[in-house]
Amino acid sequence: MEMDSNETQPTVVVSSPARRISLRQMTLSDVDHYMVWATDAEVARFCSWEPCTSREEAIKYITDSVLTHPWLRAICLEDDRPIGYILIMPVDNIRKEIGYVLARKYWGKGFATEAVRLVTAEIFKEMPEIERVEALVDVDNVGSQRVLEKVGFTREGVMRNYIIMKGSVRDMVMFSFLPSDPFK
Ligand SMILES: CC(C)(COP(=O)(O)OP(=O)(O)OC[C@H]1O[C@@H](n2cnc3c(N)ncnc32)[C@H](O)[C@@H]1OP(=O)(O)O)[C@@H](O)C(=O)NCCC(=O)NCCS
Repeated sequence: MEMDSNETQPTVVVSSPARRISLRQMTLSDVDHYMVWATDAEVARFCSWEPCTSREEAIKYITDSVLTHPWLRAICLEDDRPIGYILIMPVDNIRKEIGYVLARKYWGKGFATEAVRLVTAEIFKEMPEIERVEALVDVDNVGSQRVLEKVGFTREGVMRNYIIMKGSVRDMVMFSFLPSDPFK
């Protein structure tokens, strides 16, 4: 199997102003780094996916869902090593949803905040038709809510009984960022 083929998207690398992280397309050769966070039940706790249980499963997921994703970037350290990813999901023509995941070892160092700030700024330039980037966060996922608040997202309110996550009905907090909103 070709381990680093990703011919559907051009390689784009964007660095944060602090240059602590950069964003780039993921490739199959990132599989071992991907497994660091994807196999971790604590990372998966508030995510729709179940922890990955084998390298084969990881390769299939990257092939089927990462390489074909319309907008997903690996969050990389200075040495180009992925420590997580950040993605933009289409909602409709003017709304997109942002999501992100980081390996547990790197939590609490401001990396997610840096990545969300970078992507939110970039996406309005890249897709001028977007009027709103939104994020839906589980009410108990306090760290993720804090990330969005630190970037400058507006907490709009709690959507009660909004989704079923892993068999349980969950309240979700709706956050948004508009093109005219200031970054914090
Ligand atoms: C959510 C996640 C991306 C945050 O990444 P991170 O790099 O640790 O985030 P940052 O360091 O930029 O900021 C985290 C903030 O939340 C705070 N925080 C984290 N957990 C917290 C908790 N349980 N209670 C209160 N604050 C908390 C941190 O103190 C920090 O705030 P501060 O800078 O004011 O001190 C990471 O925890 C993760 O990957 N979680 C699993 C996947 C996930 O939940 N993704 C989001 C789905 S919506």
